[in-house]
Amino acid sequence: MTFERAAAFAPINIALVKYWGKRDPVLNLPYASSLSVALAELGSLTVVAPSAELDANIMVVNDEPVDGAGLIKVGRVMRLIRQMAGNTEVRAGIRGVNTVPTAQGLASSASAFAALATAGCAAYGVDADETTLSRIARQGSGSASRSVHGGWVIWHKGERDDGLDSIGEQLHDADYWPLRALVAHVDIGRKKVSSTEGMQQSARTSPFFGAWVETCERDLRDCRWAIAQRDIDALANVVEANCLAMHSVMMATRPPLMYWQPATLAVIHAVRRLRAEGFECLFTIDAGPSVVVLTGQGSVERVAAEIGRIEGVARVTQTRIGGGAHLVPNG
Ligand code: DP6
Repeated sequence: MTFERAAAFAPINIALVKYWGKRDPVLNLPYASSLSVALAELGSLTVVAPSAELDANIMVVNDEPVDGAGLIKVGRVMRLIRQMAGNTEVRAGIRGVNTVPTAQGLASSASAFAALATAGCAAYGVDADETTLSRIARQGSGSASRSVHGGWVIWHKGERDDGLDSIGEQLHDADYWPLRALVAHVDIGRKKVSSTEGMQQSARTSPFFGAWVETCERDLRDCRWAIAQRDIDALANVVEANCLAMHSVMMATRPPLMYWQPATLAVIHAVRRLRAEGFECLFTIDAGPSVVVLTGQGSVERVAAEIGRIEGVARVTQTRIGGGAHLVPNG
């Protein structure tokens, strides 16, 4: 069997109903289902080059070697792919480029593992459909199960212990509801506690954790309804409430997980004020200080200008809802 270098791009996704808590930390099986949108242009380009000369996989992201917990996760994904390729021993050199800053709570691991699964399967000649790619990517990073797909995506938590039914599924493609996305970048330092560690600590110590899991089930239903109606006010209500519930769980974790900076709170207040003034916008925040704001097409310029003026917002990136992971010829 011959193996050939392959490259893939995958988008970051922003969760509207969040994933925070694993019932199985090895297979990355969540307690609750989650829902996200893929963001265009922002993401990871990953090249996988199998080589019989390597004793171990090597990975470099943005010119920095990946080691420790990151390399263990990469190894897990690559082992799965090698098994599907007929248990080959051939390892790979892997190079990734992220177009979003790494480890700032903007889900760069989601795009990185979705791109790795897509390029890895192609490089090892594994014929995998999107569902299979989602299942593989999930084992690198839970939220990567959603970055395989474009547009509006649900990650079904699944019921099985082996995780076969814990997969992403596209609800609607990127053109279904052409909202705009603004990323308000706050603080460019690396975050102290990774999502992987943070959500384990929350599940163990946050007094709100049980209520959070129940809330997600209800929020998922309401979010799907708002998307089906293309009702941005209904979407804002559920998305913001779900985000704040997750951050309440985080803050009540012992020791506390405080991801926000003063500018994070200032963006929250600005978005709420702008919405009260009639602009179509809503905020959400992952495990970091930056804020993602979804807006209607007619509101994007004004909202971008207002949040761009806030002290502590380093810059505002504007983008659309985008497609899913795909191979990149000659990448
Ligand atoms: C706050 O998918 O990065 O962004 O599965 O341990 O890799 P691991 O965690 P990860 O967690 C993402 C958490 C979140 C919410 C979300 O994207 O749903």
